[in-house]
Order: sequence, then structure tokens, then C-alpha cells
Amino acid sequence: MTHNPLVPINGEVITILTESHDVKTFQVRPEVPMAHMPGQCAMLSLLGVGEALFSITSPPGRDYLEFSIKRVGKLTEALHQMEVGHQVGIRGPYGNHFPVEDLKGKRLLFIGGGIGLAPLRSLVQYTLDRREEYPDAFQLVYGSRSADDLLFRRDILNQWPEAPDFKVDLTVDVASSGWDGHVGFVPAYLEALAPSPENTIGITCGPPIMIKYVLQTLEKLGFKPNQIVTTLEYKMKCGVGKCGRCNLDEHYICKDGPVFYLSELEQIKCDFC
Ligand SMILES: Cc1cc2nc3c(=O)[nH]c(=O)nc-3n(C[C@H](O)[C@H](O)[C@H](O)COP(=O)(O)OP(=O)(O)OC[C@H]3O[C@@H](n4cnc5c(N)ncnc54)[C@H](O)[C@@H]3O)c2cc1C
Ligand code: FES
Repeated sequence: MTHNPLVPINGEVITILTESHDVKTFQVRPEVPMAHMPGQCAMLSLLGVGEALFSITSPPGRDYLEFSIKRVGKLTEALHQMEVGHQVGIRGPYGNHFPVEDLKGKRLLFIGGGIGLAPLRSLVQYTLDRREEYPDAFQLVYGSRSADDLLFRRDILNQWPEAPDFKVDLTVDVASSGWDGHVGFVPAYLEALAPSPENTIGITCGPPIMIKYVLQTLEKLGFKPNQIVTTLEYKMKCGVGKCGRCNLDEHYICKDGPVFYLSELEQIKCDFC
């Protein structure tokens, strides 16, 4: 049985992982399987509280979906109060997805900031699960405000650095005791690391200001617009082409995106990216 993506279905919270002081990852098993691809998002709802869009951070092919949720307001506060066994409404998935076919045979450079690693994590795991199709080098450049805000520690500190030919470079905006890694913003660190653009695709997600400077840095490093992929999901509201809050020229980010090549954004004259 498949479901109508506009109609919420119930999902049961089966696992909760604390990522940081304000982010938790919820594994939710939908009552009806919900197939998705990396880069897509879904609407989560709690009756009497509200609903909002969240990236699906797990890769496809599991019997659950993972959502990593930062506590910022009314709904996310209520979601953080959920316990294992609680029910949450889910509808979706929405949006297009990362161009997984184009990434085959390329070196993959993932660039994330803060909670923006959530959609990238789905793609990283998807490509790692199919390493025979993605055998070339992987590199992740990831930053957060402080060491305490680094998310998905089991992935970024253990699983991914231990995967073959996978380099992980971490940075934090502000130094703190116990952190002996790099300190500085993601775009500046990316420029200093200077990854080669040769046969490489750069894929980025993070706060809008980070994305803006990462796109500029990648171009400075010699990446062509058709070697740069980003997601503009933060511009989405309803996710289904109804609210008109995400238009970009005659395009709707939620219907044509949120994942775009920079070459596409240049054609539709995106003045904020
Ligand atoms: C496509 C898409 C994907 C997303 N993916 C993720 C994801 O993977 N993980 C994630 O955590 N978020 C994600 N978000 C963001 C998420 O949807 C929002 O964080 C969520 O809608 C917040 O809902 P809320 O009711 O908790 O906050 P709201 O109550 O709506 O508050 C939102 C903002 O208002 C501010 N605010 C709230 N109350 C006050 C107050 N009293 N005074 C001043 N300011 C206040 C908050 O600081 C916050 O910045 C995504 C958004 C989109 C569009
Ligand atoms: S998010 Fe509502 S129309 Fe695109």
C-alpha cells in the first residue's frame, strides 16, 4: 500500500538519540512505508501544536525515517518532549533529491554547517551504502558554532573517517577548552583546505550565509557551476507549491528544487545565492 503524500500518516518514535544540547535525532517508523531519496524532506505534526518541514536524514531503504530536530520554538520544543512509543504525524516526502546518478564516478566533496548536515547525511550514507558505484574519494568539511554543537558525532568522528578514502575536516566558529581542532568559519576553512576541483562535485547545505560564501569559495577554487550542488530548502514553507513563499523568478523552489546545480541557479538569476 502506498500513501497520498498530502495526507499525514502516523509514525511511531522507535529510538531517540541526543546529538547536542538542543538537537535530538528521532527514528520514526511510519505506519505505511514512505520511500524517499536523499535531499527530500517531510512535514512532521503534533496534534494541537503544529507542523513543520524537516529534512529526512536517514538514507533510503530502512523501515524507519530519521529526523534531527533543533529545539527553536513551540513545535520543536514539543517534539523534543516525545518519548519512545509516542506517535507523530508525517506527510511527504517533498522536493526533488540530490543528483545521485550524476555523482557516480566522481569525487564527492560534502560541505555542511550546523543542522545543515541533516540532508547531506542521508546522501553520505546512501553513497557509502553503494560504494561500488561511488568508489572515488569522499571529503566532508563540516563546521558548527562550537565543539558542543557538532552533530552526528558517531558518523563524523568514527564511522566516516574509518570508511575507505573518506577524509573528514571539522571546524568550529569559537574555540573552547578540550577542542584542539580547527577554529574558523566553514568557507574560510574550505579555501585553506583547497580541495581539487578535478572530477569532483561539491555538495553543500547549511545556513544561508554559509551557503552563499561556500558557493563563492568553490568557484574561486576552480569548481565550475555544473560541479556545485546546493539545497535551498530553507526557503520552503508548505513544500507543495501552494503557499507561494518560495518563488524564484517563475520557479518554485519546492517544486523545481530544493536541490539545484549552481549552473541552474545562475540561469534563473538567484540573487540571494
Ligand atoms: C525544507 C526544510 C527542512 C528543514 N529541516 C530541518 C531539520 O532537518 N532540522 C531542524 O531542526 N529544522 C529544520 N528545518 C527548520 C524547521 O522547520 C523549523 O525549525 C521549525 O519550523 C520551527 O518550528 P517551531 O514551532 O519549533 O518554531 P517557531 O515557534 O516557529 O519559531 C521559529 C523561530 O522563531 C524564533 N522564536 C520562537 N519563539 C520566539 C520568541 N518567543 N521570541 C523570539 N523568537 C522566537 C525561534 O528562535 C526560531 O528561530 C527545516 C525547514 C525547512 C523549510
Ligand atoms: S513552499 Fe509553498 S509554494 Fe513552495
